[in-house]
Amino acid sequence: MSRHVSRLWLSAFGHVGIWLAGFGLTGVAFAAFVMSSGNAVSETSQIERGKYLVALGGCNDCHTPGYFLGKPDPKRFLGGSEVGFEIPDLGVSYGPNLTPDRETGLGQWSMEEIATAITNGKRPDGRELAPSMPWKAFANLTRQDALAIATYLKSLPPMKNKVPGPFGPNQKPTSFVMKVVPPEAAKPAGPAPK
Ligand code: HEC
Repeated sequence: MSRHVSRLWLSAFGHVGIWLAGFGLTGVAFAAFVMSSGNAVSETSQIERGKYLVALGGCNDCHTPGYFLGKPDPKRFLGGSEVGFEIPDLGVSYGPNLTPDRETGLGQWSMEEIATAITNGKRPDGRELAPSMPWKAFANLTRQDALAIATYLKSLPPMKNKVPGPFGPNQKPTSFVMKVVPPEAAKPAGPAPK
């Protein structure tokens, strides 16, 4: 009798054991699923947030080819502008390629470095960005938002395009320039270049 009971008990225990082991595995798998899908969701929402902020920040205007010539090229979105800004005594700088191309864009910059350039105007090489890049206004972004922009920029298709410059005040720019001119020097713009 007692043998019978203990055998019953053992077999019940065995089932619980198997069930527990099974639950353990399922639990681990479930936890892994939640964690990975959690990361995917937060990465997607970071990209969405970055996209929204980039649209609001007008980055497209100064960083997309053709924009200031009246025909922005959507296929080269944020691929770098051929129209530079002249700042008296500072020279001319062009909105660089913000896509993750390693040679001509931000491919070798870390997320932190991109966020710092946007909000503090400091490039990884220590050069301060010209005020034509409105980093003093972007200084009000939270770190999280600046990093969301960096995440979005890193998600863009990389494209090769090296913008000219920057040129010092005594150097001759090699592409179009927006500059402040006295009224007598201003004349109507001709047709956009082909
Ligand atoms: C009014 C024009 C303008 C707007 C708007 C603008 N930028 Fe810029 N940006 C520039 C110019 C010009 C430079 C280059 C300045 C220099 O080289 O000193 C620059 C430089 C940068 C750099 C440094 C890249 C490098 O290779 O040195 C980053 C990063 C950047 N901008 C990101 C952004 C982002 C993101 C936005 C939108 C949130 C934005 N910019 C909006 C004009 C602009």
